[in-house]
Amino acid sequence: MLASKELISAINTQVGNEFGASLQYVSIASHFAGEALTGLARFFYRQAEEEREHAMKFVQFVVDAGGQLEIPAVAAPKSTFATAKEAVQAALEWEQEVTQQIYGLVNIAKKDSNYIAIRFLDWFVTEQFEEVNTMSELLQVVERAGEDGLLHVEEFLAREPGFADPHAEGGE
Ligand SMILES: [Fe+2]
Ligand SMILES: [Fe+2]
Repeated sequence: MLASKELISAINTQVGNEFGASLQYVSIASHFAGEALTGLARFFYRQAEEEREHAMKFVQFVVDAGGQLEIPAVAAPKSTFATAKEAVQAALEWEQEVTQQIYGLVNIAKKDSNYIAIRFLDWFVTEQFEEVNTMSELLQVVERAGEDGLLHVEEFLAREPGFADPHAEGGE
């Protein structure tokens, strides 16, 4: 096995966290879709897809490392949001939490001197840097626009290449 039991177990937990993030973003996206804020809805549906991809990367690692995949129960996402700010704030806090979770995985890999795992996890460290930045920028834009000015946020999302389609810039 290419990873310790402790690391495999922690990665299994992370598979649940990533699927949990995916569900949370589906929930946020549907909130915005219900408000006819299609740009925000599209942005969060796409985030949901990305979180699923993250979960699958961890799944692949467990399988490749010869570990036992054990997907934990995933908590129900928050389903109602009073304001756009509340929804985006929750997303930012989630990304900050995930960043700490990834650091926790890196700490285990380092303790194990597992250089394969450290290299694998590097991608997620960079990804979190981007996701926290993106989400805090979006929160700033939402705050500046105000709840009555969310159409400005829609325009921003359509205009900014990194938000309109992150993959267009070669990002993930
Ligand atoms: Fe993620
Ligand atoms: Fe994320």
